[in-house]
Amino acid sequence: MQTTQTTQTTAESIYGNERPALEQACAALSEHIAAIRAEMTAELGMDPVEHYLTRIKSEDSMREKCRRKGLPVTTHSALHIIKDAIGVRVVCAFVDDVFEICRRLKASGQYEFVEEKDYIRHAKPNGYRSYHLIIRFQNGYFAEIQLRTISMDTWAALEHHLKYKKDVGGKTALIVQELKRCADELASTDLSMQTIRDMILEQD
Ligand code: GTP
Ligand code: MG
Repeated sequence: MQTTQTTQTTAESIYGNERPALEQACAALSEHIAAIRAEMTAELGMDPVEHYLTRIKSEDSMREKCRRKGLPVTTHSALHIIKDAIGVRVVCAFVDDVFEICRRLKASGQYEFVEEKDYIRHAKPNGYRSYHLIIRFQNGYFAEIQLRTISMDTWAALEHHLKYKKDVGGKTALIVQELKRCADELASTDLSMQTIRDMILEQD
């Protein structure tokens, strides 16, 4: 007689039993950003943040990233070698606010700043712009914080979407060139918007 063995289908989390602590760190960072946002809103008389998102990297993406980097698929790799198990994206209306939020995060002295990539002053060759920080919490967890404007975010979303489209075929070079052009135009518009905002603030 054939017997069906009951196998355990719920695969163990790559974050092991550290998942609750990881979620706590993620929530604390989210609260910190909310506090900076509230402070700046009171000072500026306007909310500098359009929206922000926090996430714990999904099990599948984390496993895939470990493999891609040639690391063992373990909780240690996920939390102590890979640095974006916790991810935050802060989207601002204006470029200056991106830098100001970054400054306040640093001034808080709450984290170690492990890595900083200024893809705003130094855009990636494809036109990608954003300010990336890798921070380390006192308990050793890492988080990646991406700060950008609405324009930068719109561009990144479109580019991400197109990257996974398989049917671009022979048009690839033209698409890459057009995307870069859009990124540069958006960056120029961001500068103009910032100038307009400065003029409005000066009038107050
Ligand atoms: P990892 O080893 O995977 O962390 O790569 P890295 O450290 O070289 O990555 P980087 O800091 O440049 O980018 C990390 C994240 O930024 C990515 O996971 C994306 O969310 C975002 N990003 C970076 N470059 C691009 C890009 O060209 N287009 C889009 N849409 N997003 C990007
Ligand atoms: Mg990285």
